[in-house]
Formats: sequence, C-alpha cells, structure tokens
Amino acid sequence: MTADDLLARHRAVLPSWMTLYYAEPIELVSGQGRRVTDARGRTYLDFFGGVLTNSLGYDIAEVREAVQRQLATGIVHTSTLYLIRQQVELAEKVARLSGIPDARVFFTNSGSEANEAALLVATNHRRSHQILAVRNSYHGRTYATMGATGNRTWSPTSINPLQVAWLHSGDRLRGLLARLPEADRVDAAAEDLREVLATQTSGDVACLIAEPIQGVGGFVHGPDGLFAAWKKILDEHGILLISDEVQTGWGRTGEHFWGYQAHGVTPDLLTFAKGIGNGFALAGVVGRAEVLDSVSGISFSTFGGNPISTAAGNAVLDYLLAHDLQANAARVGRILGDGLRAAVAELDRVGEVRGKGLMLGVEFVHPGTGAPDAALTTRIFEACREGGLLTGKGGLYGNVLRMGPPLTLTEEEAREGLAILVDAIRSGVAAAHP
Ligand SMILES: Cc1ncc(COP(=O)(O)O)c(C=O)c1O
Repeated sequence: MTADDLLARHRAVLPSWMTLYYAEPIELVSGQGRRVTDARGRTYLDFFGGVLTNSLGYDIAEVREAVQRQLATGIVHTSTLYLIRQQVELAEKVARLSGIPDARVFFTNSGSEANEAALLVATNHRRSHQILAVRNSYHGRTYATMGATGNRTWSPTSINPLQVAWLHSGDRLRGLLARLPEADRVDAAAEDLREVLATQTSGDVACLIAEPIQGVGGFVHGPDGLFAAWKKILDEHGILLISDEVQTGWGRTGEHFWGYQAHGVTPDLLTFAKGIGNGFALAGVVGRAEVLDSVSGISFSTFGGNPISTAAGNAVLDYLLAHDLQANAARVGRILGDGLRAAVAELDRVGEVRGKGLMLGVEFVHPGTGAPDAALTTRIFEACREGGLLTGKGGLYGNVLRMGPPLTLTEEEAREGLAILVDAIRSGVAAAHP
C-alpha cells in the first residue's frame, strides 16, 4: 500500500459497511456546475448530485459568498442558546413554503435526525409508540428511523424503540398491489391501511411516516392521491401523517415544490434535508405549532441550524426560487424521462421507467419472469461511468438505476446524459442476451 493508494487506506481505516460505488471507486476532487472531476483527471456529468443533495450543483457563487460572509463575522457556531438570525430567516421561509398552517420549524444536521425529531413529536403528541410505516421505505440510520425503514439491507438491527405496522407501498411492479390499475391501487392501499389498523395495532397509533417517492427504495411511488386516501382514514383515528421529503422536496419532482402536493393533502409534519444545504449539513422538521410543541422536555441539537449551514440554506433557497428550478426540473425532467421511456420501450429487460421531474429510476428485470436483475443493473451502472456519467443505484433488490441530478441541469446536459444512459442500457441489454 502506498501513501497515495486512497482505496487501500480507506479500507484500512473505515468500516466495511460503508459502501463505495464502482468496481474501481473514484475520488471526486473538483466540481463546476453539473460536472465533477476525479483524481485521475476524468470529468463526469453528474446525474446523482451526492445522492440528490447538490441541488444547485457545484461551485455556486451565491452559496459560497453567503458562507464566506458568515465566516467573515468570525462566528461559525454559537449554539441555539442564542438567537441566530440566519436560522430565524430560514425558518420563516420554510414555514411559509411548507403549506402547513401556523408552522414551526426545528433544524437538525441530517435527514435521520429530522425524522427522529418528527417521530419524537408524533409519539409525544399522541402518547403512543405505535407507528405505521411503508414497505421498501428508507428513513435514516438512527434506531427509530432504522426501525421505520422497510428494507432489511438498510435496517441492520432488531432494536426498535417503536412498534411498527407495515403498509404496502402502492408499487406498480412488485408486491400484492402490483399491476392493479391506478385507481384500484389507491383503493387497495386504503383497504390495506384499514386492515392493518384493525389487526396489528391497538388503535391509538401515533403516525404514519411515508416518502412521496421512495428514494433508497428505487423511486417507487404509489398513485397520486394515495396520501389523501390514507389521510382520510388516519384522520378518523387522529393519527398524524409525516411526509418524509428528504429526497422529494424543493421542487425536485417538477410538478410540485413538495412531493406530498401530488396527493391533494397536507401532512401534519414534513421533514427535509439533502437539497436545502447543497452539501452543507442542514435538515429539519416542520409541523403545526400545536403538534411540534408537544415535546414535553427540552430537546436540543448543538449544530442544528447553525449560522454556517443556515447561511448556506438561505442562499440555496433564494437561488432555487429566483431561478424557478422547480419549473426547470419539470422541463428538463421531461426531456430525460420521455427520452428514456422512448428508448427502452422495446426492451424486455426494463421493467419500468418511473419517477417525476429530476427524480427518475429505471428498473431492470429478467425477461419473462420479471425477477430483479441486479447484475445487469451493475453492468449498466459501470458502463454509464465509463461513458462519463455518474448515476445512482438502488431498489430493494439493487436492480434500479437512479437519476437525481442538480435541479440546474440544462437541456443540453440532459440530452448529453440521456445519450450516455441509452447507450449503456442498450449495450448492457444486448450483451445480456445469449
Ligand atoms: C427519504 C430519506 N429520508 C431520510 C434520509 C436520511 O437522511 P440522512 O442520510 O441525511 O440522515 C434519507 C437519506 O438518504 C432519505 O433518502
């Protein structure tokens, strides 16, 4: 091992369960716009944005300058025991945008902590530790959020502070509701909820936590209106709805600012992370005052909403809104989504192209059986990188290619990435046939 062999050094000092992408993992050393360059000097178009986190892309002057202005004050950290102007300003904006009436915002450092806080609030409010969660979900890596994660790979503990009952996701391709027509799937999912409440709970459930589009789960989502059908039943019992918007927030789905808005319903609590910081550690939970104030003791986050991350967050949010990146996600996402659907229409190894806006997934299957084909997915994923495009991978069975580029992606870049993607898919599929 040489001093420069970063992979060997990584393996020697970091835990084995920290997964690295690619047979030959890469180190990204610089970035500009939607492009990143690795340590060998190879530049890639980035369709994964640090897991849907670099919402604006790389080296954004407005964000850099906002952080530099804060650094120049000499104050990086004060703790939330003191007033933080940037935090209050960001909370005002997020509260207004959330759609939740009389909203309060609590800032954390990560999506896991945001969901943990939402679960704390909901279980305190309802005085119950029973919750509902959705199969194939991902909510984080704390005990409560792993407990609410419906994917064994990402939930490596049996310890769970919550009692969880599981709902079907409304997946079109897999599970008991698969292949039902859209409207029937909503009815079947609602029926499933009624049955789960009647058979697996004592009725006084605290909340349902759900992602509008399941991120780690491979961008699986139920039909529009599903959350509304669920909420109608939840309301009969006073059960709260938490919308985990960690991946779907800030206009990524193109059609709406939040994923929940596709369902014609407002959640009681909403959690956010990733895209709001464009790389700075910033997350949080929003809820009605009456709900969010339910925490019965002091709850404190040393770094949550600190002056640096909220300076970045304000700059990111102002940029997103000023440039109407939601509309860009819709426009450019259509080029990518339509292009992908047209290119793979004839391919029997593609189970589905799904997602919304700039959150698009392609699921690969064995022809005939529809069984997941993770090996083909990995080959295509590697081929994309060789072609100069970074993508993500996911899904319960590791057979979904995930695209979540910065929301600033241009039409030309979308077409450039699409060509690489289609090439990688076509050649991967062709090589897969005997
Ligand atoms: C939907 C969702 N919720 C929560 C989390 C956890 O966020 P973090 O990794 O910032 O703790 C993630 C992370 O990928 C996520 O995708």
